[in-house]
Amino acid sequence: MKIVRTAAELALDGDVGLVPTMGALHDGHRALFRAARAESDVVVASLFVNPAQFNVAADLAAYPHDEARDAEIAEAEGVDVLFAPSRDEIYPPGFSTWIDVEDAGAEGAARPGHFRGVATVCVKLFNIVRPQRAYFGQKDAQQVAVIRRVVRDMNLPLDIRAVPTVRDEDGLAFSSRNVLLSSEERQLALALPRALAVGKQAYEARADAVRAARSSFNGLTPDYVELAELGDATLLAAAVRVGDVRLIDNVLLKGELS
Ligand code: PAJ
Repeated sequence: MKIVRTAAELALDGDVGLVPTMGALHDGHRALFRAARAESDVVVASLFVNPAQFNVAADLAAYPHDEARDAEIAEAEGVDVLFAPSRDEIYPPGFSTWIDVEDAGAEGAARPGHFRGVATVCVKLFNIVRPQRAYFGQKDAQQVAVIRRVVRDMNLPLDIRAVPTVRDEDGLAFSSRNVLLSSEERQLALALPRALAVGKQAYEARADAVRAARSSFNGLTPDYVELAELGDATLLAAAVRVGDVRLIDNVLLKGELS
């Protein structure tokens, strides 16, 4: 696996699949690498903790970072090129152009500026890497919707694939932020997938999914619980804060995000 730090060094031939990441890689990222590996000649993973998408400075400062470990994981999953640029490579002095999707659901409303940072860095990565396909996780369903909107609105020449959420044995979705939870907080955090499962059961029984989920957070107060229509899919999505860590998750109620 080649590690590349500048756009100028990235000259790629053939059919390219891109997996954008912020590192601290886990089994969710691995699933994206595998999906890309299964249908691409060249698999590129990007590793860039994007300051523009952190609306809280302490969250950026606390974000886990271990490039050597990430490089091992990416290589083991068959990634060909790890693009790990510096901040200046992505945001050179004087940088002042942004991609801003207007409606980004409850998650967009809860994190002002977040999806503007995500959309901008993804468009930059698409232009630098020029992939035929890019792979995103269903765990961040609103992110998939935002990126698909950008691709459609800006006529970008690539397909966006959505990969199902990978969960740990206890049901918690893998997230780079999980390592920041104490063992006690991790137990509390299980309320999130459990509440979503209760909401899904209610939906299947034709009851109010949002209300059922909202009342099953075991003492935690969710930032939001929303029913989201994303393309053909209907999802139940929620965010909750456990200690200093904010977690998001969702379950599919109807259709598919892929
Ligand atoms: P990051 O949080 O590193 O996630 C990278 C990709 O992995 C995203 O598409 C995310 O949805 C996916 N992912 C995370 N946890 C997952 C899980 N448990 N199961 C399946 N997929 C999972 O999302 C970002 O980085 C950034 O916003 C980025 C797109 C890289 C732009 O900076």
